[in-house]
Amino acid sequence: MAILQFSSSSPISKIIHSPRRKIRDLQDSIKTQKNLITTDSVSSFSFCTCGRRHFIGAMTSIPFLPISPSHASTSTEDLERLRPPKPDWYEEFFAWSMNTEMESYEKEISDYKMRLFDNLVGKAEKVLEVGIGTGPNFKYYTAIPNLSVIGIDPNAKMESYARKSAAEAGLKPEDFTFIQALGESIPLEDASVDAVVGTLVLCSVTDVTQTLNEIKRILRPGGTYIFIEHVAAEDGTFLRLVQNVLDPLQQVVADGCHLTRHTGESILEARFNGGADVKKASLSRFAYISSHVYGVAYN
Ligand SMILES: C[S@@+](CC[C@H](N)C(=O)[O-])C[C@H]1O[C@@H](n2cnc3c(N)ncnc32)[C@H](O)[C@@H]1O
Repeated sequence: MAILQFSSSSPISKIIHSPRRKIRDLQDSIKTQKNLITTDSVSSFSFCTCGRRHFIGAMTSIPFLPISPSHASTSTEDLERLRPPKPDWYEEFFAWSMNTEMESYEKEISDYKMRLFDNLVGKAEKVLEVGIGTGPNFKYYTAIPNLSVIGIDPNAKMESYARKSAAEAGLKPEDFTFIQALGESIPLEDASVDAVVGTLVLCSVTDVTQTLNEIKRILRPGGTYIFIEHVAAEDGTFLRLVQNVLDPLQQVVADGCHLTRHTGESILEARFNGGADVKKASLSRFAYISSHVYGVAYN
């Protein structure tokens, strides 16, 4: 994902928004364009509001150490079955590119993140972040008192970046645990965390439904799941056609990231006990991943 990003003023963005242009033009442009990101506003509208805020159990105590000793990380078999091993250089390169190429994206999404992370203040102390990557969300945790964060990610090369981000955000080293693990097989006890955070991760997991079931399992009753995900554009649009064409390439260059997932629907179908608010947003600067969903679900 970090490798293929284009500004709204780039030829690619113009092609995407012009139904008369041909995909061949787009493919030519891909060869010459990368990372031309400019500043634009973000628009959003309600997608579906079928949930209700659900704080029952907010004061429920959870185990001090929620990591199950028998599941200290996703088993090697699960890691290999659900995410075939990748060469070290690839994992290192992807971690490096996520760390260096996402600055403009993070800038544009920051208002959304600020509002979402507000949902955790005073309600969450133990937080699991699925697919934590390089830790771009740590800066949003600073308003949460007594916080400890567990970050899981199958790419072990993310750890050093995530630790640096945690330290820069003022989190004490003992309050951040990194575990090499998968969302499909989270190595934590049932009902052991107050909140789960996932940003740009359900595009990359192998099994979205299994990951959402794991999130529900490890969240305590009344716990909160906050998410921001890029998703498939509307059926029948030119952008969707472009996504269909680019999807196989994206999976190769962006570590399994899919462009055409209906993640908002998947979150609703997971049927969180307290419901889910799933909203749509369209980012102006990231043409082919501009369609997003974001929101909160309650266990
Ligand atoms: C696009 S990056 C996003 C990272 C970070 N959440 C962010 O917002 O920048 C996707 C992340 O998901 C991780 N990932 C891939 N497959 C996964 C899986 N099955 N379970 C959990 N994380 C996974 C990748 O290693 C990567 O760190």
